[in-house]
Amino acid sequence: MKPDLGVEICGLKLKNPVMPSSGSFGLPGYEEYMDLNGLGALVVKSITLHPRAGNPPPRIAETTAGMLNAVGIQNPGVKWFIKNDLQRLRRFTPPLIVSIAGTTVEEFAQATELLEKEEGIAAYEINVSCPNIEAGGRAFGMSAAATQAVVAAVKERTRRPIFTKLTPNVTDIVEIAQAAVEAGSDGLTLINTLLGMAIDVKLRRPVLANVFGGLSGPAIKPVALRCVYQVAQAVKVPIIGTGGISSATDVLEFLLAGASAVQVGTANIVDPYIMPKIIADLEKYLEENNAASVREYIGALKTH
Ligand SMILES: Cc1cc2nc3c(=O)[nH]c(=O)nc-3n(C[C@H](O)[C@H](O)[C@H](O)COP(=O)(O)O)c2cc1C
Repeated sequence: MKPDLGVEICGLKLKNPVMPSSGSFGLPGYEEYMDLNGLGALVVKSITLHPRAGNPPPRIAETTAGMLNAVGIQNPGVKWFIKNDLQRLRRFTPPLIVSIAGTTVEEFAQATELLEKEEGIAAYEINVSCPNIEAGGRAFGMSAAATQAVVAAVKERTRRPIFTKLTPNVTDIVEIAQAAVEAGSDGLTLINTLLGMAIDVKLRRPVLANVFGGLSGPAIKPVALRCVYQVAQAVKVPIIGTGGISSATDVLEFLLAGASAVQVGTANIVDPYIMPKIIADLEKYLEENNAASVREYIGALKTH
């Protein structure tokens, strides 16, 4: 018998635990190249209330075992998204998770209100890694109080589950996770990118025009695993793990650490077809190891 790859998170039924991470995969767009219905869920690039041009180039740099990006949440704004992308994406069967970002609590709230009127959205992911302009540009997710304010504002305006996507750029990610859950977050996604920079010695200049960028890819996997494990010990809500995942064994590591599902990010940029391969490999691994269900791995890490 084929192993069961299905998982359930916050009432969302996923046929397998693998989905793209926000901003790393063309949604819509990639349906022209692969069957999106084979994925566990679909997660779109973060949407803001107003259109954003993003940061000036260069905004991508390759690093050892990863990359830096400072895209700056370039997106066409929520109204355009609803009129265009949402129409195209709602016809696919995997649950659609819409990522919301904003620079004030009010922007998150208003974007949620507009999305809430639309059909075809299964859940929201709240990207609290965005700079909070009311706090001197410090990301919401760097403060428990600011995280709580955003989550509460979104929660008040929706009947759909919300996943707060945490930043690892904090002293204690558990404190922020608990704040998000207390404010009503139904689940958590972790982690977003790690703040970094790259320098061009010849030019004596930063490689990125924004100076700083978010580090992602295999380099951050151990940090992401540690964060998932720590948070899973402290909260009861489901966790979606992300950070450097590029293989079926990476997926199982995150499940063992306590995630119920995973997102693939930078690996999609290296190989846009990697998710179907990971899903096929996952099934093969479970079959070869006599596991009836992928759920057997969730939180099953042995520490003594
Ligand atoms: C080019 C690029 C754009 C991204 N855009 C977003 C975004 O819009 N919203 C968000 O929450 N995360 C964004 N991320 C972060 C990823 O979703 C993911 O959390 C992070 O890259 C870690 O996973 P990975 O190591 O598998 O890439 C972006 C990452 C990259 C590389």
